[in-house]
Amino acid sequence: MSVKVTIDGISVDVEPGISILNAARQIGGDVVPPAMCYYSKLEGSGGKCRTCLVKVSKGSEKDPRPMPKLVASCRTAVMDGMEVQNLTSPEVIEARKGVVEMLLINHPLDCPVCDQAGECHLQDLSYEHGAAKTRYEFDRRSFEKIDIGDKIQLHMTRCILCYRCVYTADQITEQRVHGVLNRGDHSEISTYIQKAVDNDFSGNVIDVCPVGALTDKTFRFKNRVWFTKPVEANRDCETNKCSGKVTLWYKGEDVIRVTGRKDQYGEVEEFICNTCRFDKKKTSDWVIEGPRNVSNQSVISSNHYSTLQPLPVVKKNLVLQEANKTQFERENRL
Ligand code: SF4
Ligand code: FES
Repeated sequence: MSVKVTIDGISVDVEPGISILNAARQIGGDVVPPAMCYYSKLEGSGGKCRTCLVKVSKGSEKDPRPMPKLVASCRTAVMDGMEVQNLTSPEVIEARKGVVEMLLINHPLDCPVCDQAGECHLQDLSYEHGAAKTRYEFDRRSFEKIDIGDKIQLHMTRCILCYRCVYTADQITEQRVHGVLNRGDHSEISTYIQKAVDNDFSGNVIDVCPVGALTDKTFRFKNRVWFTKPVEANRDCETNKCSGKVTLWYKGEDVIRVTGRKDQYGEVEEFICNTCRFDKKKTSDWVIEGPRNVSNQSVISSNHYSTLQPLPVVKKNLVLQEANKTQFERENRL
């Protein structure tokens, strides 16, 4: 049995009980609301950031009344006959702008020096939904950087408290030693007495972090992501929990970073172990599958001009423009 839900005028049949966000992901494209805290592989994630707000203009076939407020699509289940507005609702666009403004109240605008630049979800979100300026006049809260073990660094100043890393530590690793301490604007991600998160899968907190708060110390400041070349590779990993399927990030001949493979929503397809992530940085450690498909909207695809052909067309247009000019325009070089 399936239920029918319509999002931005596009209908889809989905399993009962799934969230509006996941129903939208089955349609794909612009219909999908942005999600900064929901992560399909982490149980209980979502409901923290409010970036996925949508308008439910018809509750269901049985009860067609609209929902009184905008709802978090990652936490609201679909009903048969439900009608949802995402980008087609000016109210949603306005609310999302407010959410971005709120997230940026404390997040520093240090993209030029942040390792996450180019693959930061907050950067994309601000670009697509943010306002050009902020109304906030106070100092942003700031923290000292903390080393979590020898391979991971926490820069709490950039954290948006999405809890993804906490769920990862809780569900993927064996001993959870970090979480969110305090409440309100004093909340912070912390390891108890700065204890290192040192178990086999701790590096995954780097991949799930949507911003540059948790970074890979072996990659920090080594390069900008758009100057690197991502390649899919795999190895027969000794840890039987790790698939060994990764993305290698090359600079020239050197592997400068290893990450899990991320899907179109920025979620890793499979979590990988720390040995694959931090200790296997030679091409000979891997079976190379081929270049990674990068969306051409991503800044990572810039500087890779494999399909550049439009020059003759541009030239032809310039010639036509010139030919169509009046004598006055030509004489005055207009
Ligand atoms: S450190 Fe990153 S993953 Fe963890 S709560 Fe903050 S933003 Fe989310
Ligand atoms: S993705 Fe839904 S509240 Fe964060």
